[in-house]
Amino acid sequence: MNKLGFYRDKSNHLFVQDLNVNLLATKYGTPLFIYDAGLIEDIFVKIQNAVKNINGKIFYAIKANDNIGIIKFINNLGAGADVVSLGELKKCLKVGMKPNKIIFSGVGKDREEIAFAIQKKIKQLNIESEEELFDVIEIAEKEKKNIKIALRVNLDIKASTHAKISTGDEYSKFGISSSEILKVCDFAKKSKYVTLHGLAIHIGSQIFDYDLFSSTYSALEKLAYRLNKNGFNIKSLDLGGGFGVNYEKYNFHNFNELKKITEEIFLKKKYEICFEPGRSLIADSGILVTKIIRTKNSRKKSFLIVDAGMNHLIRPTLYNAFHRIEPIKLNDTRKNKVVDVVGPICETGDFFALDRKLQEMSKNELLAIMSTGAYGSVMSSNYNSQKNAKEILIYKGKDYLIKKELSFNELIKSHVIPNF
Ligand SMILES: Cc1ncc(COP(=O)(O)O)c(C=O)c1O
Repeated sequence: MNKLGFYRDKSNHLFVQDLNVNLLATKYGTPLFIYDAGLIEDIFVKIQNAVKNINGKIFYAIKANDNIGIIKFINNLGAGADVVSLGELKKCLKVGMKPNKIIFSGVGKDREEIAFAIQKKIKQLNIESEEELFDVIEIAEKEKKNIKIALRVNLDIKASTHAKISTGDEYSKFGISSSEILKVCDFAKKSKYVTLHGLAIHIGSQIFDYDLFSSTYSALEKLAYRLNKNGFNIKSLDLGGGFGVNYEKYNFHNFNELKKITEEIFLKKKYEICFEPGRSLIADSGILVTKIIRTKNSRKKSFLIVDAGMNHLIRPTLYNAFHRIEPIKLNDTRKNKVVDVVGPICETGDFFALDRKLQEMSKNELLAIMSTGAYGSVMSSNYNSQKNAKEILIYKGKDYLIKKELSFNELIKSHVIPNF
């Protein structure tokens, strides 16, 4: 039981904790997301230890995986949450998370979302534009309720990551340009109900460059210092998430570099420091188990056609993302073959791997798509009227169903047949 994540037993079967993945797939059916709570906890504790000397607090970025079972588990570990919608906020409240542990980020909060967050007295709203601040002030004054805010700053920083997950430069929609910050701070100060208590930044996701994190955090700290010199009272710095995950192999992050750079900048300062890890906390803890429906050989390619599709895991086609794919049972006596692993969706983009070398596989055998805990099931859809995958969480050697598969009848029921 002390092994973390997914490992092989002596006969080369894939296991999680003491459970055989093959048996779990037989019990629940495929496609199936399996999460290892033990690994989530281990990584959470590592981040917590890395940031404890600087008064660092963890607000799990719910967007990475908003399954309510996962949120409950992470809430029980003591984390807060970073949410980007009313739905995510309600999920956190549903599992009993305290509102004062919830940060609300996002460029497009509507009035209903802002009003709800204010009524619930959440920890803070992260404001992304002057226009958003107008709305927040108006709503807080109408409700006669106080709310703390942090301004998300755009320091025009370009991270080396996939363009679709880079959020730190001024071509992206995120944050308030540093040239505008003083004006927006002045405006916030005039409000009786809105308290400016923090600055926030998040430059993107899947970033490995800790020098860049360091210069970004340092620039944010300098900005806070300047604002405080100008009479503001910035007490909290939200550094976002973005810590990269190694999808090529299991190589769990130890967060030593995070500890080093943040202690260099913040150890002697008196800020509350917030972190919003998503991917780094949850990616490696999940796998997607899928069954081979059939094999197919054309003149130019060999395919493994599996029962999961881009509707369950869109990262390979959306971001050209790499995920390791492993047979549930490794068999050394089989030859390797180069294959495309594809789903049943009617799109050429419906693939998990192209030209991947795998042991020869046959119909009905199982594969695990690895490190799919983050931005996996949460981005799934019912495209092609396909059903969702079930999800289970493995906690202390026991399996818990945390998402059911909706039947076709249930899916059809959500549509309304017009009366003509
Ligand atoms: C504001 C904010 N915080 C945190 C995150 C989490 O990032 P990651 O999953 O890379 O840690 C995101 C992701 O987009 C974000 O937009």
